[in-house]
Amino acid sequence: MKVLVIGSGGREHALVWKLRQSRRVSKVYCAPGNGGIADDAECLPANVKSVDSLLALANQVRPDLTVIGPELPLMLGVVDEFTRLGWRTFGPTKAAAQLESSKSFAKGFLQRHHIPTAPYAICNSMDDIQEALPHFHMPLVVKADGLAAGKGVVICKTKEEVASIAAEMLSGKMVGEAGSRVVLEECLQGDELSFLVVSDGERVAPLVAAQDHKRIGDGDTGPNTGGMGAYSTKTIVDEQMSQWLVQHVARPVVAGMKAEGAEYKGILYCGLMMTARGPMVLEFNCRFGDPETQPILMRLESDLVEALEASIDGRVSDGDFRWSPDASVCVVMSSGGYPGTFEVGKKIMGLEEAGKIEGVKVFHAGTSKRDGAYYTAGGRVLGVTARAADLRTVVDRVYSAVSKIGFEGINYRKDIAARALKKS
Ligand code: AMP
Ligand code: GLY
Repeated sequence: MKVLVIGSGGREHALVWKLRQSRRVSKVYCAPGNGGIADDAECLPANVKSVDSLLALANQVRPDLTVIGPELPLMLGVVDEFTRLGWRTFGPTKAAAQLESSKSFAKGFLQRHHIPTAPYAICNSMDDIQEALPHFHMPLVVKADGLAAGKGVVICKTKEEVASIAAEMLSGKMVGEAGSRVVLEECLQGDELSFLVVSDGERVAPLVAAQDHKRIGDGDTGPNTGGMGAYSTKTIVDEQMSQWLVQHVARPVVAGMKAEGAEYKGILYCGLMMTARGPMVLEFNCRFGDPETQPILMRLESDLVEALEASIDGRVSDGDFRWSPDASVCVVMSSGGYPGTFEVGKKIMGLEEAGKIEGVKVFHAGTSKRDGAYYTAGGRVLGVTARAADLRTVVDRVYSAVSKIGFEGINYRKDIAARALKKS
């Protein structure tokens, strides 16, 4: 079969890499892809912000299965349009994708369905902010309602800071239209967890859990990013907790969406904070996580195509995934300045040497290829990922690969999975 992957990041490289391993797949296309994906798939130009551009692509490629990587095409209703025209497509409809595309919708939904989440207020103006503020303790989290590529969340220490960040968001200066409505949310403490399930609209099957590292700096310092690294181990969530999360979070979400007339199919990514009061939902994403997908798919031993088709065909079961007990870690290498402004076009050295290390796969995110050489082309450039039987070995492997790679302005976190390592 022919598979089309939409997107251009490290997540999409991991999806392409895994889909290619399926015996059922004869050809993988990726649109628009990146420098590294071009080595594993046929990359085609596409504008992921335009449903028409993607439909034209489908007419050209005639895929048997399409997998959408990023949230934007989902929010624009690509799955609705592709499905209407007969293209088998993995992912939620526009209505279902609201769980990610509107934080105020997600918070209201969580409240309506009694799913644990932090107390919050929805504010459309500075008057609303002033009215809500006395009901909260500091620190307080200020969130843009719409999609902001991980950059629409600020944790504020004082009420003055809340007012100033909220004003910037509401005025459109900070994240544009996405900030025209703001959610204030109690700040939660604990370990974060990315718990992904695949849903067919009714049943869910969990993937192995992962932990992302959202802040730019070591020790979780500095601003939030799209994610600077992630790891997955068999102990990150035990069987009992996994069942609890399916029963108290994932299944109620899928049942609630169905009851509200927006059947949820595809990946449901539950971003959780494991607090002293129990797990609480921070956010939903309606797609695979980036960079979580890189370490998660490194541990997948069964055929990804089977699991994606089970979602489309309404026959998801726990048996859809078979996982390796190994640990896996992904370290993101980014351009200097990211998540702020950064330069691109820097030559990347050492990729071949890094890729030769046992158990290592270098996934490309923001790269381009010219005359056989790779150049930086985005904020997050590479996701160096490794797998091994134990976490110590995998961390050693991944950082040994990282040490081989260089480009001007390179930045990466030195402490991915460090806390888990200390605990183990
Ligand atoms: P979100 O896009 O809502 O997941 O927020 C991005 C990141 O901000 C999360 O992964 C957390 O690191 C942080 N964050 C969001 N909400 C909260 C909260 N209520 N308390 C503490 N940290 C939060
Ligand atoms: N790593 C967080 C995300 O994919 O949204």
